Amino acid sequence: MDIKALIKEMTLEEKAGLCSGLDFWHTKPVERLGVPAVMVSDGPHGLRKQDEQGDHLGINDSIKAVCMPAACATAASFDRDLIRRMGESIGDSCQHEKLSVVLGPAVNIKRSPLCGRNFEYLSEDPYLAGEMAAAYINGVQSRNVGVSIKHFAANNQEHRRMSSSSDADERTLREIYFPAFETAVKKARPWTVMCSYNKINGVYASQNHWLLTDVLRGEWGFDGYVMSDWGAVSDRVPGLAAGLDLEMPSSGGVNDKKIVQAVRSGELDEAVLDQAVERILTINYRYLENARPDTPWDQEADHLLSADIAGQCMVLLKNEGVLPLSETDDVAFIGEFAQKPRYQGGGSSHINSFKTTSALEAAKDLGLKVTYAQGYDVARDEATDENIAQAVAAARAAKVAVVFAGLPDAYESEGYDRADMAMPACQNRLIEAVAAANPNTVVVLHNGSPVEMPWLDKVKAVLEAYLGGQAVGLATVRVLYGQVNPSGHLAESFPVKLSDNPSYLYYGGEGDRTEYREGVFVGYRYYDKKDMPVLFPFGHGLSYTTFAYSDLRLSADAITDRDTLTVTVKAANTGSRRGQTVVQLYVGDVDSTALRPVRELKGFEKVELAPSESRDVTFTLDKRSFACWNDELHDWYVETGDFTIEVGQSSRAIDVRGTVHVTGTAMVKKHFTKDSIFMDIMSDPAAMQVVKPLLDGMGQMFGGGGSDGDSAITDDMGAAMVKYMPLRNVVSFSGGAVSEDVLNGLLQALNSL
Ligand code: BGC
Repeated sequence: MDIKALIKEMTLEEKAGLCSGLDFWHTKPVERLGVPAVMVSDGPHGLRKQDEQGDHLGINDSIKAVCMPAACATAASFDRDLIRRMGESIGDSCQHEKLSVVLGPAVNIKRSPLCGRNFEYLSEDPYLAGEMAAAYINGVQSRNVGVSIKHFAANNQEHRRMSSSSDADERTLREIYFPAFETAVKKARPWTVMCSYNKINGVYASQNHWLLTDVLRGEWGFDGYVMSDWGAVSDRVPGLAAGLDLEMPSSGGVNDKKIVQAVRSGELDEAVLDQAVERILTINYRYLENARPDTPWDQEADHLLSADIAGQCMVLLKNEGVLPLSETDDVAFIGEFAQKPRYQGGGSSHINSFKTTSALEAAKDLGLKVTYAQGYDVARDEATDENIAQAVAAARAAKVAVVFAGLPDAYESEGYDRADMAMPACQNRLIEAVAAANPNTVVVLHNGSPVEMPWLDKVKAVLEAYLGGQAVGLATVRVLYGQVNPSGHLAESFPVKLSDNPSYLYYGGEGDRTEYREGVFVGYRYYDKKDMPVLFPFGHGLSYTTFAYSDLRLSADAITDRDTLTVTVKAANTGSRRGQTVVQLYVGDVDSTALRPVRELKGFEKVELAPSESRDVTFTLDKRSFACWNDELHDWYVETGDFTIEVGQSSRAIDVRGTVHVTGTAMVKKHFTKDSIFMDIMSDPAAMQVVKPLLDGMGQMFGGGGSDGDSAITDDMGAAMVKYMPLRNVVSFSGGAVSEDVLNGLLQALNSL
């Protein structure tokens, strides 16, 4: 299709019309020219394709579909291939359902456990989120349908989500809140990006030229179209100029007229409109020309795929010898979630599952010796005395008691935030009672975000099943009984209590302003810097076997930031079962003058090993692995110095460590003034030569008494004081020996270096 020629034939009104939806889910057709409408649909972990009466809040039913594990779970797999496979199956179902774009992945960073939408987001870590997002996108788009990576950007709370401003410094945005989008754009070329509801530093994302054009297209090379989140448009004409191509859903024609008027009055260059139309049509035709509505969609097969995926995502948080269960054991399943699992979150991602498999059903199908007690009533959020008594009786009669617990739907959803990090009081009470009745108590958790675990010391094992999709029950039973060896690792830290979280004081903000004052110290970047205890650290996850890493090899002791560094480590299965381990590589800047985290994830690989097997795992690090964002350069910058290379099984279980010296090749040009202090001048060897004669004089002034004890100020003390002294003091302290002219000459010499 010759899109440019097509656009030439369109009227101004037709072009303006194409920049907003026909209805909730379609772009507008231009019938006169044979341009069809195309449909988009939520996303991200399955299809929520709605009929004509569609609404975006999930009130009207959507078609029957397959609910795969939500992102909180899939991120924990640390498995790019697995997520790619999930994307492929979602892509196939899009083709079958004639959808051009699926609305996801959702990659916003988990700043606080309170965000109601954390279940739909991947991680607190931008590297992990970016890698997993790219894998998902590559999977979906391999089927010739697009994704809409969302919500760009800094949309980390649901509270006042359509009006609040996320106020963060550039370094924080670049290092924490942007990279998941950046990596996905660079590695997977998403067809579309969805801008978020919120403002960023006072400007709506939907009108933010810096965000949508300078950074997204100019720096990262995005070449698809940008759509708005549903209802995120405030002023359409500035939005179009900023780079927002498609307003969703419909604007009822109001904004189409405004665009026409703006072009007629000269306020908006028609070329800007043409460009937006070209971007939208290019993507629409990319789908239309590759549409395969005959693609089969075998929902039963996808149900089993979702069970396989869920099994790879579950995180065994604790296990004191009780798991895996034996098929001959008498086991009590306790808690309503055993019968009716909570497997997805509320809001726009909510899927009308064609079927679900509960743990109880799965256990019965496998002929396991399992009894059941309801334990609590999810709908009423209560556990009656009778509930508890029955649960205790079931626990006493069994060898092992497995309590299925977690957060009910109302506790976490799109549209609002959680009030706290607590589990329902009735469930905590139940767990305590069951643990008192049976020393072999296991807790299975269904939740989309961390919870406090006041009973942790009293139970033998905890399995974090997250919101594992419609087949979560089957996957849970497979893991509990050892048919699947757990291999998920936490994609987020579990703090001991909510107030430990670095955003605790600022999260939610004041009115419509949320300041990201913790800066880059999000999640483990904060807990590790503070050396604080956490309930479970980022990257943590146990297995039914054990692993050890050794023999760390670096391709060089010293590199420049233009080189790459190859890191190799030997990973061994030291236990007696086949299993998968997630080899995690963290980098830390030892000598930095910037405030930096102790360690940051810069590589991971999931490796399957048979008992006693070992294998070399290799990582390649480049400039970005060492760099931080430099506000003066407005670019990535490596400060020369030593960096630690740590490889471990979690952020707090480092097996091997090494060091590499990296020389940064970019120069931060310093500008010196009379107020510059000697320390900063001295850190630059050339500048040091210029001021050296003066410095000698200054040293004498302070350290005249030497270090023989007679003087109040020793040489060392003098030198230390001079360090923080501004250059201007050479005039005032020299008793007339250094004139202002000399000082100015010196400054000239320094600034022309
Ligand atoms: C959500 C998006 C979603 C859209 C369409 C919005 O409320 O924030 O994630 O894709 O609705 O349902």
